[in-house]
Amino acid sequence: MECISIAIDGPAAAGKSTVAKQIAKKLGIIYVDTGAMYRALTYQTLQENTNPEDEKAVMETLNKIDIRLAQHEDGQRVYINEQDVTEAIRYPDVTASVSEIAKHPLVRKKMVAAQQELAKDNSVVMDGRDIGSHVLPGADVKIFLIASVAERAKRRFEENNQKGIPADLHTLEKEIERRDELDSTREASPLVKAEDAIELDTTSLSINEVTEKILEICRPFI
Ligand code: C5P
Repeated sequence: MECISIAIDGPAAAGKSTVAKQIAKKLGIIYVDTGAMYRALTYQTLQENTNPEDEKAVMETLNKIDIRLAQHEDGQRVYINEQDVTEAIRYPDVTASVSEIAKHPLVRKKMVAAQQELAKDNSVVMDGRDIGSHVLPGADVKIFLIASVAERAKRRFEENNQKGIPADLHTLEKEIERRDELDSTREASPLVKAEDAIELDTTSLSINEVTEKILEICRPFI
Protein backbone atom coordinates (compact mmCIF):
# COMPACT_ATOMS: atom_id res chain seq x y z
CA MET A 1 0.00 0.00 0.00
CA GLU A 2 1.27 3.48 -0.86
CA CYS A 3 1.31 5.93 2.04
CA ILE A 4 -2.10 7.43 2.61
CA SER A 5 -2.76 10.60 4.56
CA ILE A 6 -6.13 11.43 6.05
CA ALA A 7 -6.77 14.85 7.61
CA ILE A 8 -9.64 15.26 10.05
CA ASP A 9 -10.34 18.80 11.21
CA GLY A 10 -13.18 20.54 12.93
CA PRO A 11 -14.19 22.50 16.02
CA ALA A 12 -13.74 21.34 19.62
CA ALA A 13 -15.31 18.05 20.69
CA ALA A 14 -16.76 17.23 17.26
CA GLY A 15 -15.71 13.59 17.64
CA LYS A 16 -12.50 13.91 15.62
CA SER A 17 -10.21 11.89 17.85
CA THR A 18 -12.64 9.02 18.51
CA VAL A 19 -13.32 8.64 14.79
CA ALA A 20 -9.65 9.07 13.84
CA LYS A 21 -8.63 6.36 16.32
CA GLN A 22 -11.17 3.93 14.84
CA ILE A 23 -10.00 4.67 11.30
CA ALA A 24 -6.36 4.19 12.25
CA LYS A 25 -7.17 0.84 13.82
CA LYS A 26 -9.24 -0.36 10.87
CA LEU A 27 -6.61 0.66 8.32
CA GLY A 28 -3.62 -0.32 10.46
CA ILE A 29 -2.07 3.13 10.14
CA ILE A 30 -0.71 5.68 12.61
CA TYR A 31 -3.01 8.04 14.47
CA VAL A 32 -1.63 11.49 15.26
CA ASP A 33 -3.60 13.61 17.72
CA THR A 34 -2.11 17.06 17.10
CA GLY A 35 -4.29 18.65 19.81
CA ALA A 36 -2.47 16.45 22.34
CA MET A 37 0.81 18.12 21.36
CA TYR A 38 -0.55 21.61 22.06
CA ARG A 39 -2.14 20.29 25.25
CA ALA A 40 1.17 18.78 26.42
CA LEU A 41 2.96 22.09 25.94
CA THR A 42 0.14 23.87 27.78
CA TYR A 43 0.42 21.41 30.67
CA GLN A 44 4.14 22.15 30.93
CA THR A 45 3.63 25.94 30.83
CA LEU A 46 1.12 25.61 33.67
CA GLN A 47 3.62 23.54 35.69
CA GLU A 48 6.24 26.22 35.18
CA ASN A 49 3.93 29.21 35.61
CA THR A 50 4.94 30.49 32.18
CA ASN A 51 3.01 33.56 31.06
CA PRO A 52 0.83 32.20 28.19
CA GLU A 53 0.92 35.58 26.42
CA ASP A 54 4.73 35.64 26.31
CA GLU A 55 5.60 33.80 23.11
CA LYS A 56 9.33 33.84 23.84
CA ALA A 57 8.83 32.29 27.28
CA VAL A 58 6.45 29.68 25.85
CA MET A 59 9.05 28.82 23.19
CA GLU A 60 11.72 28.43 25.87
CA THR A 61 9.49 25.89 27.58
CA LEU A 62 8.82 24.10 24.29
CA ASN A 63 12.48 23.99 23.33
CA LYS A 64 13.56 22.23 26.51
CA ILE A 65 11.02 19.40 26.44
CA ASP A 66 10.43 16.40 24.24
CA ILE A 67 6.75 15.79 23.43
CA ARG A 68 6.17 12.26 22.26
CA LEU A 69 3.05 10.49 21.01
CA ALA A 70 3.42 6.74 21.54
CA GLN A 71 1.18 4.20 19.85
CA HIS A 72 -0.21 1.68 22.34
CA GLU A 73 -2.70 -1.11 21.91
CA ASP A 74 -5.22 0.77 24.05
CA GLY A 75 -4.70 3.99 22.09
CA GLN A 76 -2.17 6.76 21.96
CA ARG A 77 -0.18 7.81 25.03
CA VAL A 78 1.38 11.22 25.43
CA TYR A 79 4.74 11.84 27.07
CA ILE A 80 6.67 14.91 28.11
CA ASN A 81 10.21 13.57 28.30
CA GLU A 82 9.64 10.34 30.29
CA GLN A 83 6.49 11.54 32.07
CA ASP A 84 3.17 10.06 30.96
CA VAL A 85 0.72 13.01 30.76
CA THR A 86 -2.02 11.25 28.77
CA GLU A 87 -4.70 11.85 31.40
CA ALA A 88 -3.37 15.12 32.84
CA ILE A 89 -3.65 16.98 29.53
CA ARG A 90 -7.44 16.39 29.43
CA TYR A 91 -8.11 18.28 32.66
CA PRO A 92 -10.06 21.57 32.61
CA ASP A 93 -7.06 23.76 33.50
CA VAL A 94 -5.22 22.63 30.37
CA THR A 95 -8.36 22.85 28.21
CA ALA A 96 -8.98 26.41 29.40
CA SER A 97 -5.49 27.62 28.42
CA VAL A 98 -4.59 25.60 25.35
CA SER A 99 -5.94 28.03 22.74
CA GLU A 100 -3.82 30.87 24.19
CA ILE A 101 -0.72 28.73 23.82
CA ALA A 102 -1.64 27.37 20.37
CA LYS A 103 -2.11 30.83 18.86
CA HIS A 104 1.62 31.70 18.87
CA PRO A 105 3.13 31.49 15.36
CA LEU A 106 6.53 30.17 16.54
CA VAL A 107 4.86 27.45 18.58
CA ARG A 108 2.80 26.43 15.56
CA LYS A 109 5.81 26.45 13.28
CA LYS A 110 7.65 23.95 15.47
CA MET A 111 4.59 21.74 16.06
CA VAL A 112 3.69 21.69 12.36
CA ALA A 113 7.24 20.67 11.38
CA ALA A 114 7.08 17.75 13.85
CA GLN A 115 3.65 16.72 12.52
CA GLN A 116 4.83 16.83 8.91
CA GLU A 117 7.83 14.70 9.86
CA LEU A 118 5.51 12.05 11.33
CA ALA A 119 3.54 11.92 8.08
CA LYS A 120 6.57 11.88 5.80
CA ASP A 121 7.19 8.15 5.55
CA ASN A 122 4.05 6.81 7.21
CA SER A 123 0.39 6.40 6.43
CA VAL A 124 -1.41 8.58 8.94
CA VAL A 125 -4.76 9.80 10.07
CA MET A 126 -4.14 13.13 11.73
CA ASP A 127 -6.72 15.20 13.57
CA GLY A 128 -6.63 18.86 14.53
CA ARG A 129 -7.68 22.29 13.34
CA ASP A 130 -5.30 23.08 10.48
CA ILE A 131 -4.33 19.67 9.11
CA GLY A 132 -6.10 19.89 5.74
CA SER A 133 -5.46 23.60 5.36
CA HIS A 134 -1.86 23.83 6.53
CA VAL A 135 -0.09 20.76 7.91
CA LEU A 136 -0.92 18.28 5.13
CA PRO A 137 -2.34 20.40 2.29
CA GLY A 138 -1.78 17.48 -0.08
CA ALA A 139 -3.65 14.93 2.08
CA ASP A 140 -5.48 12.24 0.10
CA VAL A 141 -8.65 12.69 2.13
CA LYS A 142 -9.72 15.81 4.01
CA ILE A 143 -12.69 15.70 6.35
CA PHE A 144 -14.20 18.59 8.27
CA LEU A 145 -16.41 17.34 11.11
CA ILE A 146 -19.04 19.58 12.60
CA ALA A 147 -21.85 19.13 15.14
CA SER A 148 -24.08 21.46 17.15
CA VAL A 149 -22.56 22.99 20.28
CA ALA A 150 -25.20 21.28 22.44
CA GLU A 151 -24.37 17.87 21.00
CA ARG A 152 -20.63 18.42 21.32
CA ALA A 153 -20.97 19.51 24.96
CA LYS A 154 -23.10 16.44 25.68
CA ARG A 155 -20.52 14.11 24.15
CA ARG A 156 -17.65 15.75 26.03
CA PHE A 157 -19.69 15.60 29.25
CA GLU A 158 -20.17 11.84 28.87
CA GLU A 159 -16.53 11.32 27.91
CA ASN A 160 -15.30 13.31 30.92
CA ASN A 161 -17.64 11.39 33.24
CA GLN A 162 -16.20 8.12 31.98
CA LYS A 163 -12.67 9.34 32.55
CA GLY A 164 -13.48 10.74 36.00
CA ILE A 165 -12.79 14.32 34.89
CA PRO A 166 -15.00 16.93 36.60
CA ALA A 167 -17.59 18.30 34.16
CA ASP A 168 -20.67 20.50 34.07
CA LEU A 169 -22.75 20.66 30.90
CA HIS A 170 -23.29 24.43 30.84
CA THR A 171 -19.61 25.15 31.57
CA LEU A 172 -18.60 22.75 28.79
CA GLU A 173 -20.86 24.54 26.29
CA LYS A 174 -19.30 27.90 27.19
CA GLU A 175 -15.77 26.46 27.05
CA ILE A 176 -16.38 24.87 23.64
CA GLU A 177 -17.78 28.13 22.23
CA ARG A 178 -14.90 30.15 23.63
CA ARG A 179 -12.25 27.77 22.28
CA ASP A 180 -13.88 27.69 18.81
CA GLU A 181 -13.90 31.48 18.77
CA LEU A 182 -10.22 31.74 19.76
CA ASP A 183 -9.15 28.97 17.38
CA SER A 184 -11.09 30.45 14.43
CA THR A 185 -9.97 34.03 14.87
CA ARG A 186 -6.25 33.64 15.57
CA GLU A 187 -3.92 34.92 12.86
CA ALA A 188 -1.65 31.89 12.49
CA SER A 189 -3.35 29.00 10.66
CA PRO A 190 -6.79 29.36 12.23
CA LEU A 191 -9.46 26.69 12.38
CA VAL A 192 -10.84 26.70 8.86
CA LYS A 193 -12.36 24.19 6.49
CA ALA A 194 -9.92 23.51 3.65
CA GLU A 195 -11.47 24.30 0.27
CA ASP A 196 -11.28 20.68 -0.82
CA ALA A 197 -12.41 19.16 2.50
CA ILE A 198 -15.62 17.19 2.77
CA GLU A 199 -17.86 18.48 5.54
CA LEU A 200 -19.75 15.95 7.64
CA ASP A 201 -22.36 17.02 10.18
CA THR A 202 -22.20 14.38 12.91
CA THR A 203 -24.95 15.82 15.15
CA SER A 204 -27.33 12.95 14.50
CA LEU A 205 -24.81 10.26 13.60
CA SER A 206 -23.18 7.65 15.82
CA ILE A 207 -19.41 7.38 15.97
CA ASN A 208 -19.57 4.12 13.99
CA GLU A 209 -21.66 5.77 11.28
CA VAL A 210 -19.17 8.62 10.95
CA THR A 211 -16.26 6.16 10.78
CA GLU A 212 -18.02 4.12 8.09
CA LYS A 213 -18.72 7.23 6.02
CA ILE A 214 -15.10 8.33 6.18
CA LEU A 215 -13.82 4.83 5.36
CA GLU A 216 -16.07 4.88 2.31
CA ILE A 217 -14.50 8.19 1.22
CA CYS A 218 -11.02 6.67 1.79
CA ARG A 219 -11.82 3.53 -0.23
CA PRO A 220 -10.23 4.70 -3.55
CA PHE A 221 -6.93 5.32 -1.73
CA ILE A 222 -6.60 2.00 0.16
O1 C5P B 1 -8.20 18.66 19.56
P1 C5P B 1 -8.14 19.28 20.94
O2 C5P B 1 -9.45 19.83 21.40
O3 C5P B 1 -7.50 18.38 21.95
O4 C5P B 1 -7.16 20.51 20.75
C1 C5P B 1 -6.85 21.36 21.82
C2 C5P B 1 -6.48 22.74 21.29
O5 C5P B 1 -5.24 22.67 20.60
C3 C5P B 1 -7.44 23.39 20.31
O6 C5P B 1 -8.52 24.05 20.96
C4 C5P B 1 -6.54 24.36 19.59
O7 C5P B 1 -6.35 25.54 20.31
C5 C5P B 1 -5.22 23.62 19.55
N1 C5P B 1 -4.99 22.94 18.29
C6 C5P B 1 -4.53 23.68 17.23
N2 C5P B 1 -4.20 23.07 16.06
C7 C5P B 1 -4.32 21.75 15.91
C8 C5P B 1 -4.82 20.97 16.98
C9 C5P B 1 -5.18 21.60 18.14
O8 C5P B 1 -4.42 24.89 17.33
N3 C5P B 1 -3.95 21.17 14.77
